[in-house]
Amino acid sequence: MAAHKDFLSIDRWSTEELRAVLELAKEQKPLARKHALPHTLPNRVLACVFAKPSLRTRVSFEVAMRQLGGETLFITDKEIGMGTRESVYDVAKVMSRFCDGIMIRWFDDDEVVQLAEHATVPVVNGLTDLTHPCQVMSDILTVEEHLGNIEGKTVCMVGDGNNLANSWLNAAMRFPFNFVLACPEGYLPDEGIVRRAEAAGASFMITHDPQEGIEGAHVIYSDAFYSMGQEEEAIKRRKDFAPFQITSDLLTGAHEDHIVMHCLPAHRGEEITDEVMDGPHSVVFDEAENRLHAQRAILSTLIK
Ligand code: CP
Ligand code: NVA
Repeated sequence: MAAHKDFLSIDRWSTEELRAVLELAKEQKPLARKHALPHTLPNRVLACVFAKPSLRTRVSFEVAMRQLGGETLFITDKEIGMGTRESVYDVAKVMSRFCDGIMIRWFDDDEVVQLAEHATVPVVNGLTDLTHPCQVMSDILTVEEHLGNIEGKTVCMVGDGNNLANSWLNAAMRFPFNFVLACPEGYLPDEGIVRRAEAAGASFMITHDPQEGIEGAHVIYSDAFYSMGQEEEAIKRRKDFAPFQITSDLLTGAHEDHIVMHCLPAHRGEEITDEVMDGPHSVVFDEAENRLHAQRAILSTLIK
């Protein structure tokens, strides 16, 4: 059992605690698929707070909670006005009196950390501008289902040094795989996270050459060229990222048994071609399903 109240980023948990979540996810998955999971969280309510759109995060958390016998509430930033209508502190205190957990998708990671500090119930990061830890835990589950233990594998993300790249770097601090980011110049991951990954002895490399990055990689990972909130940069980014599109040609350099992943939503024809998304190496929908299984394991671990 994890000794933490919250799940805010992968590097805040130990390898053993993260491994326990993955093992629980693997155990629960076949039972969930048979609708045979015990209701271990009856009458518990998870508040799901969203300041950005979502398909996977919203639906997977709502379904996960119901599969455990609990309930969810959907609330937008416009309603709660955290940090504007009232302070983060007051929101944390009030929500803790009503709910048994809070899952939040927000812009500013610092505000989510503050919310967690002042809430007495678990807070789970459902994506911020800085990280997307639930996605990468689900992704490790997917890698291990297809390729066996992630140890010694090379995961190459081709694209932006964004919240997903940051979470993969955090994961490389806790799991013994190699992370490669192939990104255009000027689109590097968070400096603080890079420094912490270096200090922790994580195995990672950053290149501006997608061919070099992908060479021999077991996992080729894609995400949008512009994240939620960066829509006004779309035109510039499409140009800067054009050489970073994942195509069948690019994949010729990857390991012969590689898998292709994308956290979704995908802009088909932009960061990834249809041929690759729908091709024989793609596991993108297994990856989407695993959001449910990994996050249910996180909720099972945290909610009392
Ligand atoms: N991958 C992911 O987080 O999807 P949503 O934005 O649809 O939740
Ligand atoms: N980097 C993307 C991930 C979406 C799931 C974003 O933040 O919009």
